[in-house]
Amino acid sequence: MRLVHSVAELRQALAGEDRTALVPTMGNLHAGHIALVERAQTAGCPVVASIFVNPLQFGPGEDLQHYPRTLAADCAQLENAGCDIVFAPDVTEVYPEPQTFQVQPPLADELCGAFRPGHFAGVCTVVLKLFEMVRPRYAVFGKKDYQQLFLLKAMTRQFNLDIELLECETLRAEDDLALSSRNGYLSSAERAEAPRLYAELKRVADALRSGTSNFAELEAASTDRLKQHGWQVDYLSVRSRNTLLPPTAADQEWVVLAAARLGATRLIDNIETGRATAQKPWP
Ligand code: PAF
Repeated sequence: MRLVHSVAELRQALAGEDRTALVPTMGNLHAGHIALVERAQTAGCPVVASIFVNPLQFGPGEDLQHYPRTLAADCAQLENAGCDIVFAPDVTEVYPEPQTFQVQPPLADELCGAFRPGHFAGVCTVVLKLFEMVRPRYAVFGKKDYQQLFLLKAMTRQFNLDIELLECETLRAEDDLALSSRNGYLSSAERAEAPRLYAELKRVADALRSGTSNFAELEAASTDRLKQHGWQVDYLSVRSRNTLLPPTAADQEWVVLAAARLGATRLIDNIETGRATAQKPWP
């Protein structure tokens, strides 16, 4: 495995390769990231993992300064996973001048965007830049960051980027907590409480699947239960999987998404669901 820090070194390392699979990360890797690398390997071409803590996607007061930077440990995990190249640029390589042009995605004020102004513009902008720096044929993203994945798919389509996005299911701990770099911020009491978020999402998903259609009531009941257990809920919302907007009567496929804080740690999670269809009489 090679570790490179500049686009020039990356080009040299990739000389002769016309297809690569990119796994963009901000480092502090865990098993969920390694699953993304494994998904990338199924494309059958060299895998480039990028590690870059992108200042553009952090708002004032967020954890940019404290975001764990663990390059040596990350490289050890990536090497072990059989990753071919790690691209770890510094801030001046990615932003040699102030980034006055930015991608302005839709839904930027919805869901997480409502609580993290500028976040998705920062994500889309850096991913577009990473796409141009690495020029991959494939790029892999996890479904845990559902809104991010939704917007990156739309960006790739609408800008006609010749890159196929590969999705990866959320990896969970044994108690169903979605793996996240931010789980490391939780105290042991908070860690014990944390699986409740997904449990509430599952409860809403199950109710929808079995025919309940009062979205607002389900959202409010789950939000209340979380609050009773000490959560500060940013949102818990049923959305259309097609549009990520509040569902219309025509929508039969939904995703339930939530972001909520336990102490100082903000966790996000989601679950896809849909109306159970009648069992077909043939296999
Ligand atoms: O999901 C992340 O880790 C980041 O948002 C990404 C896609 C690497 C962009 O900085």
